[in-house]
Amino acid sequence: MKNQSFNSILQDISTHLSQTKNSVQEGLQWICDTLKISFSAYQWVGFYFAEPSSQTLHLKAYAGAPTDHTTIPFGKGICGQVALSNVPFLVPDVTLQDNYIACSVDVRSEIVVPLFLNGKNIGQIDIDSHYSDPFSNEDTEFLEAICKLIADTYGNTLLEI
Ligand code: SME
Repeated sequence: MKNQSFNSILQDISTHLSQTKNSVQEGLQWICDTLKISFSAYQWVGFYFAEPSSQTLHLKAYAGAPTDHTTIPFGKGICGQVALSNVPFLVPDVTLQDNYIACSVDVRSEIVVPLFLNGKNIGQIDIDSHYSDPFSNEDTEFLEAICKLIADTYGNTLLEI
């Protein structure tokens, strides 16, 4: 059931990105909004992009409650760790993580998947859930496919947002 939704939403995103001449910012925002309304366990969806010179991540688009954490140093929290590790990080229970930045007391789990451009980790998609342990490897693969679509669509313009 969920896999069917993943496939159909991936198709919607692909169609939207290829048919509409929107800016990177608008495209990312559309994806955040679409994911948040499509999956009951996705309460907050956002994209952070890396600024290598300052070793920080910057929030560029999100759907869900506003967060104070719009800038995150590499290495800090789940997001900062993914900026350095280059691998997806699935957290079934955030209370068991030492290196975690809480955006809301309601968040119980999180998944962060890096976004690669020409093999380089330039950003990430971050999803918070109010449910405990809602994510699986299918979510990881789904989010990796979305990140690839974004990189293929926007290319180097992603480095300018
Ligand atoms: N929880 C994240 C911080 C970003 S918020 O989830 C929006 C982390 O530990 O990196």
